[in-house]
Amino acid sequence: MRREAIILAGGSGTRAGGEMPKQFVELLGIPMLWWSVRAFHAYDPSTAITIVMHPGFFDLWDILYARLPETDRRIPVRLVCGGRDRSHSVENGLMGIENLQDALVAVHDAARPLLSRDLVARCWEIAGQKGSAVPCCPEVNSLRRVSDGGTVPMDRDGILVVQTPQVFRGDWLEDAYRRRQSDAAFTDDASLVQAAGYPVTVCDGDPANIKVTTPVDFTIATALMQAVFKH
Ligand code: C5P
Repeated sequence: MRREAIILAGGSGTRAGGEMPKQFVELLGIPMLWWSVRAFHAYDPSTAITIVMHPGFFDLWDILYARLPETDRRIPVRLVCGGRDRSHSVENGLMGIENLQDALVAVHDAARPLLSRDLVARCWEIAGQKGSAVPCCPEVNSLRRVSDGGTVPMDRDGILVVQTPQVFRGDWLEDAYRRRQSDAAFTDDASLVQAAGYPVTVCDGDPANIKVTTPVDFTIATALMQAVFKH
């Protein structure tokens, strides 16, 4: 099966602080979103890569892209306009891909730049066998749920924290998006695919594959990158 990776960089939020969305901020001199491009390309250079980006940031991206090392600029990528929320961005990415029935599609948040080769390999491999692969890690924190103006403890046993990349058979993902109610709120693709009746296979995630959300995450991500990727 062909491999198609959709890297979601369509958010315009600045929860992480700073003036531009976090996915454009440089980590060790490389824009955050590009680390994911590198990870997919390094594992399999024939992977077709789509980056989904809000058109308001195309000019900024031109500037950042021009600063990438030449070897990086040789990696072919397709740029697609982001949608009004995450799932519309995925939909836009899917629309640019032909013959989805012959492809496995990985959907990955650009906000997770610490994507390792091992995790990419595991997700492609398991999805190739089972039709889907969703990396998860066990919850390690104690949990409480806000309830009636107070909070109540929650049992963390059996709770899994879900990561990306999430890989699916292209025909499953296409069908799940075709059948989705456009106002239904799904925070990831596994929820949507499962709601459409397809099996979701969970695999081991990677604790280092953090989602960069708040300012402190940049410090953690940089330190992890120095340690893990030894750049
Ligand atoms: O906001 P949050 O961090 O949950 O977003 C998850 C991912 O979805 C991010 O990589 C963000 O850039 C992407 N996104 C998108 N299009 C949107 C909103 C979010 O591609 N409209």
